[in-house]
Amino acid sequence: MRDYSQQVLSGEGRDDYARYMRTDALLSLQRRPDEVVHRDELLFQVVHQSTELWLKLACSEVHEAAECILIDNLETAIRLLKRASLGIELVTNQLEMMRELSPWDFQTIRTVLGHGSGADSPGWRSVQKHSRRIERVFTDLVERRGIDLAELYRSKVDSAEQRLAEAMIEWDERISLWRVRHYKMATRVIGHQVVGTQGTPVDVLAKLIAHKFFPQLWDVRTELTRTGPMGDTT
Ligand code: HEM
Repeated sequence: MRDYSQQVLSGEGRDDYARYMRTDALLSLQRRPDEVVHRDELLFQVVHQSTELWLKLACSEVHEAAECILIDNLETAIRLLKRASLGIELVTNQLEMMRELSPWDFQTIRTVLGHGSGADSPGWRSVQKHSRRIERVFTDLVERRGIDLAELYRSKVDSAEQRLAEAMIEWDERISLWRVRHYKMATRVIGHQVVGTQGTPVDVLAKLIAHKFFPQLWDVRTELTRTGPMGDTT
């Protein structure tokens, strides 16, 4: 009979869970109660730190999805991109916790942030880098296979190419939806016509919502509307 009370992994931590998950290191990454200037720093740090972890996973999936497109393995790329988009959805949902942050209490937390801003988030920087790369890889695929995107959308609804394009647009859209929530949340907490810890006006965040990583996939929709049965209604 196996003795489950025995720890079998090497490494630091009182049991195998702690050793594998490295919970001692992980749980020591938040400011201690004796360090904090406000009790809600824990809430603030947990939302940011867990965002970094989910984005680490999401970007790793986008990276591999791009590698799969390079070798024409579209099915795996689609699966990994969907997983990556789910990661963005999860970090969008966890912004809900910031609703619990009172605007006045946040003014105390702000005093210890220095010039630290989510604008320097390694996770979000990585999202930008990997989004640009997969856009290039996808564009190469379109050229390599001689794909006419409008035709792909008109007549190949179940094709791997169209499902990949849809997985790509979902990634792009999820990022914009995060930006919508982040902008509204930031305005709710610090107001508008003020600047963040890095000097950027909150209202600039609203403009970023319109950014598109994969413009050709958005443009093709416009083309479908213009050439569809109703024609261009502008
Ligand atoms: C009380 C909560 C928050 C407020 C008031 C806030 C406010 C701001 C402001 C004003 C900016 C503009 C740059 C600056 O001057 O700082 C900014 C940028 C940014 N923040 Fe936040 N933020 C909050 C939470 C978060 C969280 C939880 C994340 C997740 C990591 C995050 C990620 C970002 C990113 C990525 C940018 C760059 C703009 C973009 O790519 O859309 N922020 N934030």
